[in-house]
Amino acid sequence: MSEHNSHDAQHQGERPVKRREMSRRQFLSYTLGGASAFMGAGMIVPMLRFAIDPVLQPKSQADWVKVVEEAKIENEPKSFKFQVHQVDGWYESDVELEAWISKDQQGNIFALNPTCKHLGCTVNWNANPEYKDQYFCPCHGAHYTVDGKNLAVAPAPLDQYDLKVENGFVYLGQLGPNKRVK
Ligand code: FES
Repeated sequence: MSEHNSHDAQHQGERPVKRREMSRRQFLSYTLGGASAFMGAGMIVPMLRFAIDPVLQPKSQADWVKVVEEAKIENEPKSFKFQVHQVDGWYESDVELEAWISKDQQGNIFALNPTCKHLGCTVNWNANPEYKDQYFCPCHGAHYTVDGKNLAVAPAPLDQYDLKVENGFVYLGQLGPNKRVK
């Protein structure tokens, strides 16, 4: 090796080497940041799925609930209680409902909901001698025909349940607007 080369090497050796090194602080913050993001995603994804899942589920068809034997239904309305299983997002419960079920002159069976369409009290059949053979609401005096037609106070007819008769039993389904009266 010549003297010149040796001098260069020595000179280069003295020059501070510029290397892009990561400081300990940067290393720690990158590592911890990455780990936190990974763990956060691991926690958030199941939470998001839990939050959104019930909303995305297709709504199930209304279940039919077996309520009473067909033979027990007469022209005079009678009250029957029955339970439905409700799924409301994440909350499941059994709710007791009531229907007034009767048979018209043609033998068609129908079921009305006793919730008054004025402010939601409960109506009863033949509960006021002034309004014979009518549904009557004790709260503000609304009354309805046997078909649920609103005669006073209430702004709309009583709601009606979907109904089917199968193997001698009456089944009730969804509650909806009254189809028997205009
Ligand atoms: S709630 Fe029935 S009349 Fe008012």
